[in-house]
Amino acid sequence: MAPLSKLKSRAKNSVTTAATASSQNSTAPLPIAKSIDAARTRAKNCEACDLYKHATQTVFGEGARKPRIVFVGEQPGDQEDQQGRPFVGPAGKLLDTALEQAGIDRAKTYVTNTVKHFKWEPRGKRRIHKKPNGAEIAACRPWLDTEIALLKPRVVVCLGATAAQTLLGRTFRVTQSRGELLESALAPHIMATVHPSSILRAPDEESRHREMASFVADLKKLAKFAK
Ligand code: URA
Repeated sequence: MAPLSKLKSRAKNSVTTAATASSQNSTAPLPIAKSIDAARTRAKNCEACDLYKHATQTVFGEGARKPRIVFVGEQPGDQEDQQGRPFVGPAGKLLDTALEQAGIDRAKTYVTNTVKHFKWEPRGKRRIHKKPNGAEIAACRPWLDTEIALLKPRVVVCLGATAAQTLLGRTFRVTQSRGELLESALAPHIMATVHPSSILRAPDEESRHREMASFVADLKKLAKFAK
Protein backbone atom coordinates (compact mmCIF):
# COMPACT_ATOMS: atom_id res chain seq x y z
CA MET A 1 0.00 0.00 0.00
CA ALA A 2 1.43 3.41 -0.94
CA PRO A 3 2.30 5.79 1.91
CA LEU A 4 0.14 8.89 2.20
CA SER A 5 3.02 11.08 1.08
CA LYS A 6 2.78 9.41 -2.32
CA LEU A 7 -0.92 10.01 -2.69
CA LYS A 8 -0.46 13.46 -4.18
CA SER A 9 1.52 12.31 -7.17
CA ARG A 10 -0.66 9.21 -7.46
CA ALA A 11 -3.70 11.51 -7.48
CA LYS A 12 -2.37 13.53 -10.38
CA ASN A 13 -1.75 10.41 -12.42
CA SER A 14 -5.03 8.82 -11.59
CA VAL A 15 -7.01 11.79 -12.85
CA THR A 16 -5.68 11.29 -16.33
CA THR A 17 -6.17 7.56 -16.07
CA ALA A 18 -9.74 7.77 -14.86
CA ALA A 19 -10.76 10.61 -17.14
CA THR A 20 -9.34 8.68 -20.05
CA ALA A 21 -11.06 5.55 -18.84
CA SER A 22 -14.45 7.17 -18.59
CA SER A 23 -14.30 9.13 -21.81
CA GLN A 24 -12.42 6.64 -23.98
CA ASN A 25 -13.65 3.40 -22.45
CA SER A 26 -10.24 1.95 -21.62
CA THR A 27 -9.59 0.31 -18.25
CA ALA A 28 -10.81 1.45 -14.86
CA PRO A 29 -8.26 2.82 -12.35
CA LEU A 30 -6.86 0.49 -9.70
CA PRO A 31 -7.93 0.84 -6.03
CA ILE A 32 -5.37 2.15 -3.55
CA ALA A 33 -6.69 0.04 -0.65
CA LYS A 34 -7.81 -3.55 -0.31
CA SER A 35 -11.20 -2.90 1.27
CA ILE A 36 -13.62 -0.03 1.81
CA ASP A 37 -12.94 -0.13 5.55
CA ALA A 38 -9.19 0.08 4.93
CA ALA A 39 -9.71 2.98 2.51
CA ARG A 40 -11.96 4.80 4.99
CA THR A 41 -9.38 4.41 7.74
CA ARG A 42 -6.56 5.69 5.54
CA ALA A 43 -8.64 8.58 4.22
CA LYS A 44 -9.05 9.87 7.79
CA ASN A 45 -5.45 11.10 7.61
CA CYS A 46 -5.52 12.35 4.03
CA GLU A 47 -3.46 15.49 3.48
CA ALA A 48 -3.28 15.25 -0.32
CA CYS A 49 -4.60 18.83 -0.57
CA ASP A 50 -5.05 21.64 1.95
CA LEU A 51 -8.77 21.16 2.57
CA TYR A 52 -8.16 18.97 5.62
CA LYS A 53 -6.74 22.02 7.43
CA HIS A 54 -10.11 23.75 7.79
CA ALA A 55 -12.47 20.78 7.82
CA THR A 56 -13.57 18.94 10.95
CA GLN A 57 -12.95 15.51 9.47
CA THR A 58 -12.81 13.41 6.32
CA VAL A 59 -16.31 12.46 5.20
CA PHE A 60 -15.92 9.14 3.43
CA GLY A 61 -18.72 7.36 1.56
CA GLU A 62 -21.09 5.01 3.36
CA GLY A 63 -23.79 2.50 2.59
CA ALA A 64 -24.34 -1.08 1.53
CA ARG A 65 -21.38 -3.46 1.31
CA LYS A 66 -22.48 -4.68 -2.11
CA PRO A 67 -24.45 -1.79 -3.59
CA ARG A 68 -25.80 -1.91 -7.10
CA ILE A 69 -25.98 1.87 -7.16
CA VAL A 70 -23.29 4.34 -6.05
CA PHE A 71 -24.31 8.01 -5.78
CA VAL A 72 -21.55 10.62 -6.06
CA GLY A 73 -22.15 14.18 -4.84
CA GLU A 74 -19.75 17.13 -4.80
CA GLN A 75 -18.37 17.53 -1.27
CA PRO A 76 -19.70 17.37 2.29
CA GLY A 77 -21.64 20.37 3.53
CA ASP A 78 -21.66 21.97 6.96
CA GLN A 79 -23.71 19.25 8.66
CA GLU A 80 -21.89 16.41 6.91
CA ASP A 81 -18.59 17.93 8.07
CA GLN A 82 -19.79 17.93 11.66
CA GLN A 83 -21.39 14.49 11.62
CA GLY A 84 -18.77 12.80 9.44
CA ARG A 85 -21.40 11.28 7.14
CA PRO A 86 -22.36 12.15 3.54
CA PHE A 87 -25.72 13.64 2.58
CA VAL A 88 -27.20 14.03 6.07
CA GLY A 89 -28.00 17.77 5.82
CA PRO A 90 -30.79 19.51 3.85
CA ALA A 91 -29.60 18.19 0.46
CA GLY A 92 -29.41 14.70 1.93
CA LYS A 93 -32.96 14.94 3.28
CA LEU A 94 -34.18 15.97 -0.15
CA LEU A 95 -32.25 13.06 -1.69
CA ASP A 96 -33.91 10.68 0.81
CA THR A 97 -37.37 11.96 -0.15
CA ALA A 98 -36.64 11.66 -3.87
CA LEU A 99 -35.24 8.13 -3.46
CA GLU A 100 -38.33 7.11 -1.53
CA GLN A 101 -40.57 8.52 -4.26
CA ALA A 102 -38.52 6.64 -6.87
CA GLY A 103 -38.84 3.39 -4.91
CA ILE A 104 -35.13 3.11 -4.08
CA ASP A 105 -33.98 2.08 -0.62
CA ARG A 106 -30.99 4.29 0.29
CA ALA A 107 -29.70 1.60 2.66
CA LYS A 108 -29.14 -0.68 -0.32
CA THR A 109 -27.05 1.95 -2.12
CA TYR A 110 -23.73 3.63 -1.35
CA VAL A 111 -23.47 7.41 -1.13
CA THR A 112 -20.23 9.34 -1.44
CA ASN A 113 -18.69 12.58 -2.68
CA THR A 114 -16.12 13.66 -5.26
CA VAL A 115 -14.20 15.54 -2.57
CA LYS A 116 -14.08 14.20 1.00
CA HIS A 117 -13.43 17.41 2.95
CA PHE A 118 -15.77 20.39 3.39
CA LYS A 119 -14.50 23.50 1.62
CA TRP A 120 -15.95 26.68 3.02
CA GLU A 121 -15.45 30.36 3.63
CA PRO A 122 -16.67 32.34 6.63
CA ARG A 123 -19.60 34.72 6.30
CA GLY A 124 -20.30 36.17 9.72
CA LYS A 125 -20.77 33.17 11.97
CA ARG A 126 -21.74 30.89 9.07
CA ARG A 127 -19.56 28.59 7.00
CA ILE A 128 -20.50 29.01 3.34
CA HIS A 129 -19.90 26.23 0.84
CA LYS A 130 -17.12 26.93 -1.64
CA LYS A 131 -16.75 24.91 -4.83
CA PRO A 132 -13.68 22.64 -4.90
CA ASN A 133 -11.11 23.46 -7.57
CA GLY A 134 -9.48 21.12 -10.08
CA ALA A 135 -6.42 20.42 -7.94
CA GLU A 136 -8.55 19.52 -4.91
CA ILE A 137 -10.75 17.26 -7.03
CA ALA A 138 -7.63 15.63 -8.51
CA ALA A 139 -6.08 15.12 -5.08
CA CYS A 140 -9.22 13.36 -3.85
CA ARG A 141 -9.79 11.30 -6.96
CA PRO A 142 -7.96 8.14 -5.79
CA TRP A 143 -10.48 7.73 -2.95
CA LEU A 144 -13.45 7.91 -5.31
CA ASP A 145 -11.80 5.59 -7.81
CA THR A 146 -11.07 3.18 -4.97
CA GLU A 147 -14.66 3.21 -3.72
CA ILE A 148 -16.02 2.50 -7.20
CA ALA A 149 -13.38 -0.12 -8.01
CA LEU A 150 -13.95 -2.04 -4.75
CA LEU A 151 -17.74 -1.76 -4.65
CA LYS A 152 -18.25 -2.66 -8.32
CA PRO A 153 -21.74 -1.14 -8.63
CA ARG A 154 -23.89 -1.70 -11.69
CA VAL A 155 -24.46 2.00 -12.02
CA VAL A 156 -22.70 5.14 -10.81
CA VAL A 157 -24.93 8.20 -10.45
CA CYS A 158 -23.34 11.64 -10.57
CA LEU A 159 -25.31 14.20 -8.57
CA GLY A 160 -24.53 17.56 -10.14
CA ALA A 161 -21.88 19.02 -12.40
CA THR A 162 -18.82 18.51 -10.18
CA ALA A 163 -19.29 14.73 -10.01
CA ALA A 164 -20.42 14.52 -13.64
CA GLN A 165 -17.49 16.48 -15.04
CA THR A 166 -15.07 14.56 -12.84
CA LEU A 167 -16.28 11.16 -14.00
CA LEU A 168 -17.58 11.95 -17.50
CA GLY A 169 -15.22 14.67 -18.65
CA ARG A 170 -15.10 18.44 -18.43
CA THR A 171 -17.26 19.01 -21.47
CA PHE A 172 -20.14 16.96 -20.04
CA ARG A 173 -23.26 19.09 -19.46
CA VAL A 174 -25.83 17.85 -16.94
CA THR A 175 -28.41 20.19 -18.47
CA GLN A 176 -28.05 18.47 -21.86
CA SER A 177 -27.56 14.83 -20.87
CA ARG A 178 -29.23 14.32 -17.51
CA GLY A 179 -30.98 11.01 -16.98
CA GLU A 180 -29.13 9.24 -19.81
CA LEU A 181 -27.68 5.85 -18.96
CA LEU A 182 -24.20 5.84 -20.47
CA GLU A 183 -21.48 3.22 -20.70
CA SER A 184 -18.30 3.66 -18.70
CA ALA A 185 -15.12 1.83 -17.83
CA LEU A 186 -15.86 2.60 -14.18
CA ALA A 187 -19.10 0.61 -14.06
CA PRO A 188 -21.45 -0.97 -16.60
CA HIS A 189 -23.56 2.20 -16.53
CA ILE A 190 -23.16 5.78 -15.45
CA MET A 191 -25.82 8.46 -15.23
CA ALA A 192 -25.77 12.12 -14.28
CA THR A 193 -28.60 14.14 -12.84
CA VAL A 194 -28.94 17.38 -10.93
CA HIS A 195 -27.55 17.95 -7.46
CA PRO A 196 -30.33 17.89 -4.83
CA SER A 197 -29.21 21.29 -3.52
CA SER A 198 -30.10 22.85 -6.89
CA ILE A 199 -33.71 21.89 -6.14
CA LEU A 200 -33.47 23.50 -2.71
CA ARG A 201 -32.30 26.69 -4.44
CA ALA A 202 -35.26 26.81 -6.86
CA PRO A 203 -36.70 30.34 -6.84
CA ASP A 204 -40.32 29.43 -6.09
CA GLU A 205 -42.58 26.60 -5.03
CA GLU A 206 -43.75 25.84 -8.55
CA SER A 207 -40.27 25.40 -10.03
CA ARG A 208 -39.13 23.46 -6.96
CA HIS A 209 -42.04 21.08 -7.49
CA ARG A 210 -41.23 20.74 -11.20
CA GLU A 211 -37.52 20.14 -10.59
CA MET A 212 -38.24 17.59 -7.89
CA ALA A 213 -40.52 15.70 -10.30
CA SER A 214 -37.75 15.64 -12.96
CA PHE A 215 -35.20 14.47 -10.37
CA VAL A 216 -37.50 11.64 -9.25
CA ALA A 217 -38.10 10.72 -12.91
CA ASP A 218 -34.32 10.41 -13.41
CA LEU A 219 -34.00 8.29 -10.27
CA LYS A 220 -36.83 6.01 -11.39
CA LYS A 221 -34.63 4.95 -14.31
CA LEU A 222 -32.37 3.36 -11.69
CA ALA A 223 -35.07 1.31 -10.02
CA LYS A 224 -34.27 -1.71 -12.21
CA PHE A 225 -30.70 -1.69 -10.82
CA ALA A 226 -31.87 -1.34 -7.24
CA LYS A 227 -33.52 -4.77 -7.03
N1 URA B 1 -23.75 18.08 -0.93
C1 URA B 1 -22.94 17.12 -1.42
O1 URA B 1 -22.55 17.16 -2.59
N2 URA B 1 -22.61 16.12 -0.62
C2 URA B 1 -23.01 16.02 0.63
O2 URA B 1 -22.63 15.06 1.30
C3 URA B 1 -23.86 17.03 1.12
C4 URA B 1 -24.21 18.05 0.34
